[in-house]
Amino acid sequence: MNIEVKGHSGCQIDVVPEGQEIYVYKSTAAPKYLNRLLLQAEKQKAAGNVAYQHIRVPEVYEIVKERDKTVIKMQYVYSKNFIEFFEQAGFEQIDYLIGALKYFLEYEIDKCHMEDVPATVFQSKFEEVKGKTLTNPLCQNDEEITEILDKAGKVFYAVDCLQIPVGLCHGDLTFSNVLFNGNNYYLIDFLDSFVETPLQDIVKIRQDTRYYWSQLMYTKQYDAVRLRIVCDKIDREIDSYFQEKYSWYATNYKTMQLMNIMRILPYAHEQRVVNYLKNILKELLHEI
Ligand SMILES: Nc1ncnc2c1ncn2[C@@H]1O[C@H](COP(=O)(O)OP(=O)(O)OP(=O)(O)O)[C@@H](O)[C@H]1O
Ligand SMILES: [Mg+2]
Repeated sequence: MNIEVKGHSGCQIDVVPEGQEIYVYKSTAAPKYLNRLLLQAEKQKAAGNVAYQHIRVPEVYEIVKERDKTVIKMQYVYSKNFIEFFEQAGFEQIDYLIGALKYFLEYEIDKCHMEDVPATVFQSKFEEVKGKTLTNPLCQNDEEITEILDKAGKVFYAVDCLQIPVGLCHGDLTFSNVLFNGNNYYLIDFLDSFVETPLQDIVKIRQDTRYYWSQLMYTKQYDAVRLRIVCDKIDREIDSYFQEKYSWYATNYKTMQLMNIMRILPYAHEQRVVNYLKNILKELLHEI
């Protein structure tokens, strides 16, 4: 029996028993994801070679690249999703998770070097996102979106450059891409990023802990109050830790988060998601 899980962005997940083992096959035949999935497999493999504290990565057994199909065969991890984990975790376990995330991010920072990323990198990304947003029917003819795009444009054209660590990141470090297995946390769904920076990973974690993104995408019943308490605790601790330690974080977090949330707009296919994104963007633009 194969279990199929439909990926969010055009990838298919098949859970396949073979003999005594269970494997996950992640595949795509969508032309624009062929190479991305390949890059994902390579990032996952590289991360698998590092001994992180409590952070694990499913082993990649095989990468198949055909002309019109990419397939990754990897280890299947018995796990809980973040909601199931947070609902039963005590604060001690949440402290472990925070420690593991800090350790993972510090490892990345250590492997990076500081760079002045030119403003043009952000400006051209912004133009690309703006173009795609304006082809989303839910964003066209929306005056608030027009105003947000206008104000965000001003932010990205006013920056000089972003002095940040560059070299390594997960790329899509939301809680929906963490599989919880006891006190081990398996990272999946690595993604190439327009700037390979740990700041991107902090921004993605805070997309969940500050803005509760993955909860918005969760369709089953859950204890919203408890989830909020846990997320708020993680958010406070991650934010204050990096605020105190790294001036590049304090200086650039909001600009990077603005870009991150903007990048979701083209893919929002529900009005409630567009409204949610607009609220965050208005708040960020007000704060910057
Ligand atoms: N190695 C694994 N072991 C167990 N379950 C997995 C594994 N990889 C993926 N899954 C399951 O499949 C779901 C989706 O996986 P993943 O995050 O890689 O895809 P996605 O977000 O749908 O993909 P994409 O965003 O690349 O389209 C996970 O949330 C998890 O439930
Ligand atoms: Mg995912």
